[in-house]
Amino acid sequence: MTTISRCPVNEGAIPVLDDDPFSSEILENPLPFQERLLEAGPVAYLSKYNAYAIGRFDELSSALSNWQEFISGDGVSIRELEAPKGLLQTDPPMHDAPREVLQEILSARVLRKLRDDCMARAIALLDAHLNGFEVGAQVEIDGVKDIAAVLPVNFFPDASGIDEAGKDKFVDFADHNFNTAGPYNDLVKAGECKASELAQWMVQKCQRDALKPEGFGADIWAAADRGDILPDHAPLLASSLIAAGVDTTIYGISGLLYGLATNPDQWEKLKENPGLARVAFDEALRWSSPVQAMFRKTTTDVNIGGTIIPANSRVMMSYPAANRDPRRWENPDKFDLNRDPSGHLAFGRGVHQCVGQHAARLQAACLLELLIERVQSIELVGPVEYHHNNALRGWAAVPLRFTLC
Ligand code: HEM
Repeated sequence: MTTISRCPVNEGAIPVLDDDPFSSEILENPLPFQERLLEAGPVAYLSKYNAYAIGRFDELSSALSNWQEFISGDGVSIRELEAPKGLLQTDPPMHDAPREVLQEILSARVLRKLRDDCMARAIALLDAHLNGFEVGAQVEIDGVKDIAAVLPVNFFPDASGIDEAGKDKFVDFADHNFNTAGPYNDLVKAGECKASELAQWMVQKCQRDALKPEGFGADIWAAADRGDILPDHAPLLASSLIAAGVDTTIYGISGLLYGLATNPDQWEKLKENPGLARVAFDEALRWSSPVQAMFRKTTTDVNIGGTIIPANSRVMMSYPAANRDPRRWENPDKFDLNRDPSGHLAFGRGVHQCVGQHAARLQAACLLELLIERVQSIELVGPVEYHHNNALRGWAAVPLRFTLC
């Protein structure tokens, strides 16, 4: 049960939430906690973890843009961790060169060239489930396992030039990485036994000789050869693409399918106007926020909306709360293709804003284009199942029925 009282360490100026945002109950349904966070104030103190949380849109946007006072270099977890530093765990100026390299490698221009390959894979995946049925036939399908989880573990690692042997382990590798953003709870303990083995396996796959001669991985090594980044950083940077880009995209597409299945009027709108596909994916990201939380550490006392977060505090950046903040979004709980969802924080903001967003967008765009072409209606035919992760809104199953056109 949550009480809103006053923070003992800040002369009573900050509301206190007693919730455990990493409890099974909240991971199963985080929306009530996020509402309490929004209502509590611009900042709340999470008494269970001696940490702070920012959920309101304006305050979160400015905190994410303020890398000088909200640093990532001491980790983006709620705990101090002795972990290897990926791109996300560095601050400028150390962050600048590798960021520039990845930004170029994963630019919209580069991704456009991969559209045909991505589309061919999307066609093959839908053919496998929908071919052989007549117009009007109804096909039952799992939106996660059969659709959302397929491209991110095939197209994307292949585009990175990473050998696909053992590709099922990409999801586990990334899952554990995201879990470590949270406290040392059962989710972290469950992944811990194979974590270092998986991390070594992944880095091994990202060594120069193990990578295919073409792909994002090879491009990263080419940047090391040019002296743009240190050679030691190349495998970590390449493996961070899998760590950051697989599960997030799976859950982004899962949330999109769930949003469309539970809002048939919005699906109809999309069928009538396929040009809304990009809006549909952005709106799904706003509405479902695949990344639920990352942390920063304050370097100094920081004034947020008139209250002070003390120096050296861990601060939760609650993207999902901001993405449903009624101060910013009209009818925030509605999945609505009439709105302009651009500016949502599902990809973050500031220097760490998602560098892989064009890769995620491409996969969603190919799937949506085909679904609009081949599917008349989408229904949810059973309860969805969530996959609990400390930092992600994970989906295990979204049972769907497609009526084909
Ligand atoms: C729908 C899918 C995705 C979502 C929702 C998402 C979300 C995010 C968010 C919220 C951040 C910022 C985290 C922070 O500020 O603490 C981020 C950063 C990042 N993302 Fe994504 N991401 C997605 C897909 C991808 C893909 C496909 C890749 C790889 C190609 C990727 C690679 C990265 C990397 C490397 C960073 C760190 C950037 C930096 O520190 O400069 N992401 N992502």
